[in-house]
Amino acid sequence: MAKKNSLIRPLVHDLHAYVPGEQPKIKGLIKLNTNENPYPPSPKVLAAVRAAVDGRLRLYPNPTAEILRAKLAKLHSCRPENIIIGNGSDEVLALAVRAFVEPVSEGRVPRVPNQKKTGTRPSEVVQYFTPSYSLYPVLADIHGAAKNTVPLQPDFSMSGVPELRRGKKWNFNAALTFVTTPNAPSGRGYKTSELEKLCRAQKGVVVLDEAYVDFANENALKLALKFPHVLVARTFSKAYSLCFQRVGYFVGHAELVAALGKIRDSYNVNGLGQIAAEATLDDLKVYRANFKKIITTREWLSRELTKLGFRVLPSQSNFLLAKPPLFPAQEWLQKLRGQKILVRWFSAPEVSDYLRITIGTPAEAAALVQAVRRLSR
Ligand SMILES: Cc1ncc(COP(=O)(O)O)c(C=O)c1O
Repeated sequence: MAKKNSLIRPLVHDLHAYVPGEQPKIKGLIKLNTNENPYPPSPKVLAAVRAAVDGRLRLYPNPTAEILRAKLAKLHSCRPENIIIGNGSDEVLALAVRAFVEPVSEGRVPRVPNQKKTGTRPSEVVQYFTPSYSLYPVLADIHGAAKNTVPLQPDFSMSGVPELRRGKKWNFNAALTFVTTPNAPSGRGYKTSELEKLCRAQKGVVVLDEAYVDFANENALKLALKFPHVLVARTFSKAYSLCFQRVGYFVGHAELVAALGKIRDSYNVNGLGQIAAEATLDDLKVYRANFKKIITTREWLSRELTKLGFRVLPSQSNFLLAKPPLFPAQEWLQKLRGQKILVRWFSAPEVSDYLRITIGTPAEAAALVQAVRRLSR
């Protein structure tokens, strides 16, 4: 255990930071590990960014990403006041914890779910199903909030409200509930009707994290426009090939959005990111064609891996969660790396038997299948 530096807050000292997927320094690897889009941004987006690289880099960008918010409002049939942009959706998720959740007061250890024993108050609780996006616990810990986690069903479906009530572990009064929909890392999609039931039952804020929703059959955006306590998180990273630019956003009630606006950095969305995202919205047909290609490759890869003995879960996202045959998943991770293919493995017990495989181009998917064949011999 490292010696504590008294200059650093104990909470920060003890913190486990979020571990991002590897961004390899060596060339020539097939990167199927961080759910990036295999297709580049559209030529118009690249041209818009190039055209913006001039003397204006000396100026601050628009502080509220006004043009981008207006375009998104048009796309989602809402008002710009219903939208807040972040430096990636990770930033707006972090803002939600800071705006809606009380840190557990000093001297009381953030421990849940047994509220009676620990004295945790619902106003201090960040809640989510497990497994889901592994950033949520980190955000709660950074804030000194309490965490309440409830496992998804073994097939990664969500328990319905009556079941959650019976289980007694889910907190219907939690200050903030994150739902990853479609789920990551399983890829499972959820019906808007079941999400609506959950939203109706929650008293605190619900964030529906739709990072992968463009690859799914349905989205729940209408819930953010219907309920005053529901926010939908979206990102330009996955479906819109813009991870590098870091642009994500929430759609939701103007009052929640205004509260989040108060605590964000004044210039939280960089200028080139705003321009890239604006140009993306002017060229959506290119991206919609890419979603289709990715979905086709996903279904092909799922069939091929199944033939090779993998147990592949149905996916509504741009990745597959698959339980490999012959060797443990962690060994496959290393073996595939030896074949110059990066995939992701998580140590969390619910998913440690699986590999998460991002959907690449058809050629990348074929290379993965070839590599699996070689390793299975
Ligand atoms: C479920 C989920 N939400 C949000 C994000 C964050 O996306 P970004 O910050 O790039 O917008 C990710 C990225 O991996 C994710 O998997």
